[in-house]
Amino acid sequence: MNILITGGTGLIGKRLTQILIQKGHKVSVLTRTKKNSNTVTYYTWDIENQKIEKEAIANAELIVHLAGANVGEGRWSEKRKKEIIDSRVQSGNLLFQEVKKHNPNLKAFISSSAIGYYGMITRETPFVESDAPGNDFLAEVCTKWENTANQFSELSTRVAILRTGVVLDKKEGALAKLLTPIKLGIGSALGTGKQAMPWIHLEDICQMYLHLIENSTISGAFNGVAPQTITNYEFSKTVAHILNKPFWFPKVSAFALKILLGEQSIIALEGSPISAKKIEDSGYKFKFKELSVALRDILG
Ligand SMILES: NC(=O)c1ccc[n+]([C@@H]2O[C@H](COP(=O)([O-])OP(=O)(O)OC[C@H]3O[C@@H](n4cnc5c(N)ncnc54)[C@H](OP(=O)(O)O)[C@@H]3O)[C@@H](O)[C@H]2O)c1
Repeated sequence: MNILITGGTGLIGKRLTQILIQKGHKVSVLTRTKKNSNTVTYYTWDIENQKIEKEAIANAELIVHLAGANVGEGRWSEKRKKEIIDSRVQSGNLLFQEVKKHNPNLKAFISSSAIGYYGMITRETPFVESDAPGNDFLAEVCTKWENTANQFSELSTRVAILRTGVVLDKKEGALAKLLTPIKLGIGSALGTGKQAMPWIHLEDICQMYLHLIENSTISGAFNGVAPQTITNYEFSKTVAHILNKPFWFPKVSAFALKILLGEQSIIALEGSPISAKKIEDSGYKFKFKELSVALRDILG
């Protein structure tokens, strides 16, 4: 298939591109900055000015929408919040308008969303896909993002959405940031440490995208998290154990994190279990179900 990936230059997009090429698909990437490659065609877009290279859309049989300003980077000022929403929603709306004009027979639109859909709260009962969205900023982002994706069903295009958890990789993302204090021997839990930290190995999230791409009967929203629930305390302790580092430092106070990060501290301080049952029931087989096995694979 000819597959167009927006944000294909990011953590998930880069690995997904490799996997799709290995599987014999032709991959194009929609980016803000033109690049050259022998294996991937890069097209550019300017979301703010609603401009896009037309061939990008006309040639696509399926679109994977991953683009978005990083939620964990930069303090959440009003300007940054707008960028976080617009980079996902304005971009998705631009894709929708262009597909309607130039490619109304697009087979599928597969979009990222995030577990922030349920709201960043701490509770014991796992969230399932049919639960209502939360009412904080991340829930607003995810709801608008998913609405943007769902409008593609008006064109009879299949829509599938992955509500992604914390993606684990050694070089990029949340784990990479957590590694520094732990390697220095000053790793500790954040806040109470009791909040859940729904995680997923980079390989599994990319294989899940492949599962949704290649199974044309699957549609709807799915949680993209590993089945094992782990708390923030257990997560950091497991990383420290695998790296043979001490883990006795007092917990980082919630108060200090709130002062340091403002509203964004909610990402670190709150979290609930998220169910992986629906994606498993759809036939997806996890490579990494247990955190210790995933971390040994990633950290070596
Ligand atoms: N990684 C995680 O733990 C995680 C968890 C939950 C959800 N997700 C979601 O999954 C998607 C992919 O994740 P990722 O970790 O691969 O993301 P990433 O590494 O941050 O890459 C996202 C890509 O989006 C594009 N982008 C960044 N800022 C943008 C802006 N202001 N306007 C338009 N495009 C912009 C960039 O592509 P160009 O520079 O080439 O334009 C970038 O490579 C994201 O939407 C993310 O929110 C990720």
